[in-house]
Amino acid sequence: MAHSGSLVEDLNTLESEGLKAVQSAETIEALEQVRIEFLGRKEGRVSGILRRVGEFSPAERPKMGATANRVKERLHAALKAQEVSLGQAVGRRSVSEDLTLPSRGRWVGGRHPVTQVIDDLVEIFRTLGFTLVRGTEAETEWYNFEALNTPLDHPAADEQDTLYLKAGHLLRSHTSPVQVRTLERYEPPIRILSPGMVYRRDSYDATHTPAFMQLEGLVVDEGISFVDLKATLGEFARRFWGSDTQVRFRPSFFPFTEPSAEVDVKRVFLNERGEESETDWIEIMGAGMVDPAVLDASGLDSERYTGFAFGMGPGRIGLLRYGIPDLRLFFENDVRFLGQFAGP
Ligand code: PHE
Repeated sequence: MAHSGSLVEDLNTLESEGLKAVQSAETIEALEQVRIEFLGRKEGRVSGILRRVGEFSPAERPKMGATANRVKERLHAALKAQEVSLGQAVGRRSVSEDLTLPSRGRWVGGRHPVTQVIDDLVEIFRTLGFTLVRGTEAETEWYNFEALNTPLDHPAADEQDTLYLKAGHLLRSHTSPVQVRTLERYEPPIRILSPGMVYRRDSYDATHTPAFMQLEGLVVDEGISFVDLKATLGEFARRFWGSDTQVRFRPSFFPFTEPSAEVDVKRVFLNERGEESETDWIEIMGAGMVDPAVLDASGLDSERYTGFAFGMGPGRIGLLRYGIPDLRLFFENDVRFLGQFAGP
């Protein structure tokens, strides 16, 4: 009579072979083949071994039955687990390949609020006959300061205020160098506008940022006077803020304009009760008559030509226009903020 030990051994070998086969099955179909091979009723290898039970004495049979049941249970459990993990992988794949699923929402871009302000400002000045020119953000001390009648020992040229690059070069601290570059290149009559980024060694808080937008304007021709400056900037303010906007010119100082002025506006608006109300005077730009020294430095005849220039901060104008409390919102690019200005 055969010895039961060898059959129990065969069952144990079968179990470890079966578990290995389950592990290496990479598709549901391959897994089904493993199940048939090991647990199939007629041809399965476990059944094959069990058919030999008859060869053993009744006393030995229970032990073989118990071993066979344990092997069957373990193989069943392993097959189930493998089926689940293959099913998940198959499920993932079918989701990404299912072309009938709804798409993600459309993500429509919009212009940054400061860009919108610049576009509106430029549009108004375009109708007044101004042309757009571009400057460079990296400048030399000559264009940023000296040609603008600002000696290098002026406080503005100090390293405390200006971001210097390699010797003699810097990140422009205002858009006024564009005045000089334009006067060097073009013959009057000149009427140009130049928006762009400027840089200062400044803190980063609600009212300061080390980089910000400026919009420079320059008009040079024979016979340009302060009257032209007042008329042009007054007309601009009324077109931008409304026809009942008041404009005020306060004496000021810039090295490159003489005389110089700070321009303020007072706007009329409807308050919560629907009544007409006025804002305080709001400073919107620096301006003045181009200093003859700037025309000379640019190679233009200051006896023949005169002009005016102005510089404003579209970011600041954006704060006022939209009632934004903190300049940093313009730089953080949080889409929840920007989306409010993006339009439909
Ligand atoms: N460049 C000046 C500034 O940054 C502004 C300005 C421009 C003033 C042109 C007068 C004329 O403050």
